[in-house]
Amino acid sequence: MITAIRGTHDILPGEVEKWHYVERTARRLCERYGYVEIRTPIIEREELFTKGTGETTDIVQKEMYSFTDKGGERVTLRPEATPSMVRAYVEHSLEQVLPATKLFSLGPMFRYERPQKGRQRQFHQLDVEVFAMSDPAIDAEVIDLAWTLVNELGIGQAELLINSVGCKACRPAFQQALVAALGDDLPKMCQDCQRRARTNPLRIYDCKVEADQPIIDRLPHAIDYLCEACAAHFAGVRAHLDAFGIPWRISHRLVRGLDYYTRTTFEVLGQTIGAQNALLGGGRYDGLVESLGGPDRPGIGFAAGLERLVLALPDSVSATRPRRAFVVAIGEDARGAALTLLRELRAAGLAADMEFESRGVRAQMKRADRLKAYVTLVVGGDELARGEVTVRDMATGAQRPVARSAVIETVRTALTGRETTEA
Ligand code: HAM
Repeated sequence: MITAIRGTHDILPGEVEKWHYVERTARRLCERYGYVEIRTPIIEREELFTKGTGETTDIVQKEMYSFTDKGGERVTLRPEATPSMVRAYVEHSLEQVLPATKLFSLGPMFRYERPQKGRQRQFHQLDVEVFAMSDPAIDAEVIDLAWTLVNELGIGQAELLINSVGCKACRPAFQQALVAALGDDLPKMCQDCQRRARTNPLRIYDCKVEADQPIIDRLPHAIDYLCEACAAHFAGVRAHLDAFGIPWRISHRLVRGLDYYTRTTFEVLGQTIGAQNALLGGGRYDGLVESLGGPDRPGIGFAAGLERLVLALPDSVSATRPRRAFVVAIGEDARGAALTLLRELRAAGLAADMEFESRGVRAQMKRADRLKAYVTLVVGGDELARGEVTVRDMATGAQRPVARSAVIETVRTALTGRETTEA
C-alpha cells in the first residue's frame, strides 16, 4: 500500500465540514473588514523566499522544499505566503488597481519540520496582508481582525502577545546590546545560538533548548531600545487595542522567526493544542516590499494555522450537513420515475440521493438511515398510478401520500432552513 507522506494529512469527510466552518468564518470576517481575496501559486522561485523570508531563518536554512525543475530553474513550494503576496502586489501594481491594498488568502504551505500535534509538513494558512499603511490604527485593525476571528470561532482562553522589534534605525543598538549581554555565556549555549549570535542575534530568542532558557531570560528587551518614532508607534498600537477592549500582554521574546519584521509583532496563543500553541502570528514589515524590488511601502499582516484553529474549535462545533431527502423506488418499473424525481429535487436546490444498485426496499431504507436522510420519498407502481408519492418522515416514521405535483414544495418545507447535526 502507498501511504501519505509523513507530515501530510488527508482531511476526511466528517472533518472537512469543520474546515468549511473555519474557512467560511474567516472569509466572511475578512470581507467585513474590507479585505479582498487573492490566490497566488503554491510554487515560486526559490530566491523569493531566500530574500523575502530571510537567509538566517530556520525556514530558509532547514525547512524549504526546493528543487531544480526540468528547465533547470530553482523553485520552492511556498513555506509561507507573505513573500508571494508582496511579489503579487509589486508585479501587478496592486496599489493602483485596488482602492485599498488589504488582501487575504487561504491555502497550503510546506515546511520540512519534525511533525507533531499541530505541526505538519503540509499545513494551511489564512494569510492577511495590508500594504502602504503605517498608522498604528492599521496595526490595531489587523490585530483586531485576528483576535475577532479566534473569538468568532468560539475558541476560548486565547491570549494575545505583542512586542515591538524596532526599525532599521534602532535595531542595531538592540543587537549590539544583545551580543554584549551574552558575553561569557555564549560559549555555553547551543550551536544554533552561537551561529545566530554571528548572523542575526535576534534569532536567539527563537531557541527552544532547555539549558539556554535561563540565559535568554536575562537578555535585554527590544522595547527598551526603541527610537522615539518606534516607541510612539508602539504606544499608539496599545492605546487602540485598549480602546477596543482587546486584552494584550507584552512578550519580550516575541521577535518572531522571520527576518522581515519591524516594529509591531504579535501572536495569539491557544490553550488546547499542546506544545505548538501559536494559533496565529504576524507583524509589521516595513522594508520587505522594497527589498523585493518594489516601491518603498510599509506592510503588516498575520497568518493563522488552519489545522490549529480546527484543533482548538470547541466541541459544540460539530460537523453539519444539509438535511437531505432520499428517494426509494419500489420495483424496476418505478426506477425511471424515481430518477426523474431525484433530478427535479436537486434542480430545485434540495439535497437528495437514492440507491443506484437495484436493491429491495429494505436495503434502500437502510441506506436512507445511514445517510441520516430527513425524509424518504417512496415511488412505486401504485403511487405512480394514483399520481402520488409517499413521503415518510424518518424521525417519526409518519407516512402520507402527497400529489406528485406538490412533492417538491412539500420536501422543501421539510428540509430547508435547518441543518442536521452529525454525530
Ligand atoms: P508563522 O509564525 O511562521 O508566520 O506562521 C503563522 C502560523 O502558521 C503559526 O502561528 C501556526 O499557526 C501556523 N504554522 C506555521 N508552521 C506550521 C506547521 N509546520 N504546521 C502547522 N501550522 C503551522 C508566517 O507564516 C508569516 N508569513 C505571518 C505573517 C503574515 N507575517 C506578516 N504577514
